[in-house]
Amino acid sequence: MKNVLVIGSTGQIGSELTMKIRREVAGSTVVAGYIPGAEPKGELLTSGPAEVVDVCNGKQIAEIVDKYQIDTIYNLAALLSATAERFPLKAWDIQMNGLINILEVAREKHCAVFTPSSIGSFGPSTPRDNTPQDTVQRPTSMYGVTKVATELLSDYYYHKFGVDTRSVRFPGLISYTTLPGGGTTDYAVEIYYAAVKGEEFVCPIAKGTYMDMMYMPDALKAAIDIMNADPSKLVHRNSFNIASMSFDPEIIAAAIRKHYPDFKMRYEFDPVRQAIADSWPNRMDDSCAREEWGWTPSYDLDSMTEDMIVNLKKKLL
Ligand code: SER
Repeated sequence: MKNVLVIGSTGQIGSELTMKIRREVAGSTVVAGYIPGAEPKGELLTSGPAEVVDVCNGKQIAEIVDKYQIDTIYNLAALLSATAERFPLKAWDIQMNGLINILEVAREKHCAVFTPSSIGSFGPSTPRDNTPQDTVQRPTSMYGVTKVATELLSDYYYHKFGVDTRSVRFPGLISYTTLPGGGTTDYAVEIYYAAVKGEEFVCPIAKGTYMDMMYMPDALKAAIDIMNADPSKLVHRNSFNIASMSFDPEIIAAAIRKHYPDFKMRYEFDPVRQAIADSWPNRMDDSCAREEWGWTPSYDLDSMTEDMIVNLKKKLL
């Protein structure tokens, strides 16, 4: 990984991943790819090159890959699950037509490609607890349909054409830098903003709904480590279960109350998000990632909560 293109560099993952690779991978050039209307700002803009890269424009992707002699593409352009239910054709276009554009460029120009999958790639017929690495994947949301297809297409390009595709199934990602938007797991970010601002939190997800979640530093580490892993050790490629914590709204609220004893939450559940959440696993088994490339998370709910609150206080107060 030397010359890297991050497509979707101003989104929740991209804004932090671009900066982390720029800081930590010596001698790297990381191009921040963005679409008009989502321009990079601040340090993301000033610390390296930025280019308009629309996943739906294969020619544009090829030009930027040539211009910077890109060897690794992080494909982070996607509509999250609740938004994808509102705009299913647009989600298909970005997630599937976008992916095949990238894979075709990668095939011709010999790039490695990371395209995240998700807990959303599972569905109601998947085992809920200790969800195995290899199991039933029959999702019922458009987001999930595109994620399973992403996994399959990425593996196809590896087996058929030798394109070095690798990825992980991200849990809901929690961070204080860039807000997610339109996801089912977004509540677990928004709850911290409410607590730090001293507001009551109206939770769109029902009590007792467990989902895998992860703090952003662990997710970024996974995205980099999987691309640096020794390929001879990889039995799987697209995509690895990774896990670090699982909770329901009551449990995260209790973790927050250790810092804000008066924190209040009430429920007003969103039927679209709830139906999606009910179809996702409670907790994935990530033993293949641990065995094949040494995955280990650093944060649990309490250490994440402490760090989120410290950083959101700096940001919001
Ligand atoms: N965080 C995503 C969502 O909620 C799932 O990967 O849509």
